[in-house]
Amino acid sequence: MRLSGKTAVITGGTRGLGRATVEAYLAEGALVVCAARRPYEIGELQEKYPDQVDFVATDVTDEDSVAALMAYAVERFGGLDILVNNAGASRDGRIGRLSLADWNVTIGTNLTGVFLCTRAAIEPMTARGGGRIINVSSCVASRAATGASAYSASKAAVEMFTRTSAVELAPKGITVNCLSPGYIDEGMGKALAENERAWETYRGRLLSGRLGRPEEVAATAVFLAADESSYVNGHVMEVNGGLLWAA
Ligand SMILES: NC(=O)c1ccc[n+]([C@@H]2O[C@H](COP(=O)([O-])OP(=O)(O)OC[C@H]3O[C@@H](n4cnc5c(N)ncnc54)[C@H](OP(=O)(O)O)[C@@H]3O)[C@@H](O)[C@H]2O)c1
Repeated sequence: MRLSGKTAVITGGTRGLGRATVEAYLAEGALVVCAARRPYEIGELQEKYPDQVDFVATDVTDEDSVAALMAYAVERFGGLDILVNNAGASRDGRIGRLSLADWNVTIGTNLTGVFLCTRAAIEPMTARGGGRIINVSSCVASRAATGASAYSASKAAVEMFTRTSAVELAPKGITVNCLSPGYIDEGMGKALAENERAWETYRGRLLSGRLGRPEEVAATAVFLAADESSYVNGHVMEVNGGLLWAA
């Protein structure tokens, strides 16, 4: 029970990697507020852990929605200790054909969403004497892939936002780290692996030779929130099965 009694807000906690992180946090004793626009199957978790998990309909790109999320977490569970900025969107397309709307959704969700949630978490975490913020970037934050300009740029920015946040928030006892997943057998990674040509290209670059499992990402998210990582700050931790740089 490495997160016993801690309150966590996990954005995008309804499916994919966020959902796996919610389950791992619940198993470690955390009180969890899942934030996403739609509830999906979060109902089963609420039945299994009625006093430990809640869902708040949230749009991370909307300032008021994010403020309401943090206020609810504090009211429901008495404070805020951990924020996992996991909600993400990807609208791929070569730059010449990428619409401004797709660019804005990607940057708005992945970068502005992280900024808004981080900003709103500072006060309640400070009131607790500190906290943990875990951002989620991607292996393409530092590797170029055709069609991924908006997504890669947003995730590279999240990694730099992580370092700046760590510097600014250290005096408040808040650590800020980033988890950078590779290709995971869930959500966006699963969709990529289902494209045979794309998967042939990427499989050869994975030292593990396989997709990651969502639980492997969730285990790292637990580590970054638990006492054992108390001296880790401003770090980008790659969880990608040894993904080689594109050559
Ligand atoms: N899966 C991978 O292989 C992989 C690899 C590298 C990095 N990542 C990163 O890991 C994170 C999770 O990825 P995933 O594959 O699990 O994604 P996913 O299955 O597409 O789930 C995305 C989650 O984010 C929520 N979300 C999207 N837009 C939102 C918004 N505006 N406000 C609030 N919530 C929003 C979605 O719920 P609603 O749509 O209901 O809002 C959903 O819960 C993302 O940041 C992604 O970039 C994933």
